[in-house]
Amino acid sequence: MSDPIEYRGTTAVVTGASSGLGAEFARRLAARGADVVLVARREERLRDLASELEASHRVTATPIALDLTLPDAAAQLRAELEGRGIRPSTLVNNAGFGMHGAFVDSDADETARLIQLNVTALVALTRELLPQLLGGRGALVNVASNMAYQASPGMAVYGASKAFVLSFTEAVGHEVRDSDLRVLAVSPGATRTEFFDVVGERFDAPIREMTVGQVVGATLSRLDRSSPPPSFVPGWRNALNAKMAGIVPRRMAIAVSARTIERGERRD
Ligand SMILES: NC(=O)c1ccc[n+]([C@@H]2O[C@H](COP(=O)([O-])OP(=O)(O)OC[C@H]3O[C@@H](n4cnc5c(N)ncnc54)[C@H](OP(=O)(O)O)[C@@H]3O)[C@@H](O)[C@H]2O)c1
Repeated sequence: MSDPIEYRGTTAVVTGASSGLGAEFARRLAARGADVVLVARREERLRDLASELEASHRVTATPIALDLTLPDAAAQLRAELEGRGIRPSTLVNNAGFGMHGAFVDSDADETARLIQLNVTALVALTRELLPQLLGGRGALVNVASNMAYQASPGMAVYGASKAFVLSFTEAVGHEVRDSDLRVLAVSPGATRTEFFDVVGERFDAPIREMTVGQVVGATLSRLDRSSPPPSFVPGWRNALNAKMAGIVPRRMAIAVSARTIERGERRD
């Protein structure tokens, strides 16, 4: 049953808002009347987006430049919000990045940063803001990936970080099921953003990608259901793949995943 969230007059915090899915979440939420807090490292991009959103939607958009891999980033962000008198009722934990290559060759510092951003910061920020979110009628959206549904050889740590996000979000969602907060883990497949530039020059985006509009539009419409599912995979092909990964023998699911990732590897 449809029961749209009323975002007007509320505040949404979006991490990773300087590009890709995060910028689209911010645009869509602002278009529905939410004031938005835009968090990422690239301050100029955040400022430009904030000006765009304030001009087109008559909302307040607050850019906060912050490196979420810093150990106390979540507490720092909560203090910053409190200092500005901002009480969010929606949080989109979207900031994240991927690494590609055999784990045995991986860089230890880069691996630690990935876990810090994709896992530790997401958990810490959820913990910092959840008490406030529970006082409202908004949403907690954690961005996982279709790689959450099976192991990802060639992107082992990234895939595992997203499996964590999926499991964590579904569990927290269940814990707060009697509140008015709608909790959703969204697991996009390949989506046209800067993600594949960050993953590395030896890895190409797949030919079939969804657009940020498709992914974010579908996510927000799931949240507009009176009882949203605990998690959601946008795009029917991606949803089918995730479903199949849970049905076929695990060895097969891992092999298919490895082949898909290998296909993205540049041979030149
Ligand atoms: N695109 C895909 O195919 C795909 C598929 C499945 C899941 N996802 C997930 O979707 C989410 C968004 O990624 P995207 O595809 O939109 O990629 P993107 O365009 O590269 O955006 C990533 C965002 O994360 C921010 N970020 C990175 N490191 C950060 C840090 N240390 N502190 C704060 N912010 C940081 C970036 O901003 P700054 O660089 O300015 O800090 C940027 O705004 C990620 O969690 C990703 O894992 C993407």
